[in-house]
Amino acid sequence: MIEIRTPKTREDFKAYYDLRYRLLRQPWAQVRGTEKDDYEPISHHFMAVDTATNEVVGVIKIYEKEPGVGCYSHMAVSSARQRQGIGKLLIDAVEAHSHEMGYHTLGCFSRLNTTLYFEQAGYKIAGLPTHYFGTTQVVWMEKKL
Ligand SMILES: CC(C)(COP(=O)(O)OP(=O)(O)OC[C@H]1O[C@@H](n2cnc3c(N)ncnc32)[C@H](O)[C@@H]1OP(=O)(O)O)[C@@H](O)C(=O)NCCC(=O)NCCS
Repeated sequence: MIEIRTPKTREDFKAYYDLRYRLLRQPWAQVRGTEKDDYEPISHHFMAVDTATNEVVGVIKIYEKEPGVGCYSHMAVSSARQRQGIGKLLIDAVEAHSHEMGYHTLGCFSRLNTTLYFEQAGYKIAGLPTHYFGTTQVVWMEKKL
């Protein structure tokens, strides 16, 4: 079974950032440390855990980008566990959090190869593509809550 949890212990955070690094930075030959950004301390973190093995199989974080606007980022599901609905569970978690926080809008900076994924989750492109790092570009996508 997959459970969405908030990382709490040092070991939780180690596994959480390691998955982020392996999925979102290592394939682009980025060094360790680049998987973190300036918003870590003001972000709420969620991880998907396989309760049978205690393995962290998905990650996402969210912070308030401007008053009433939530922004989630650094979403990743381990390669072997993709297309099993874990990404949807992670989005459900940040959407539930956003409702609790009273945000009126929720969005993310999607890489250009994932815009269709977020469109299918109800998000619309609401910005122009901008350079992110290396050869990657992102575009702001949002949903009114
Ligand atoms: C994008 C990602 C988080 C989706 O997670 P997931 O757990 O596989 O997603 P779900 O199981 O909830 O949804 C799977 C569905 O989305 C579709 N999908 C997955 N990635 C997609 C993409 N890049 N574009 C369009 N559709 C996509 C799948 O085809 C699947 O549909 P199907 O069930 O009809 O075959 C995951 O593929 C991932 O970690 N990718 C690498 C990291 C990344 O790109 N993160 C986003 C950065 S903005």
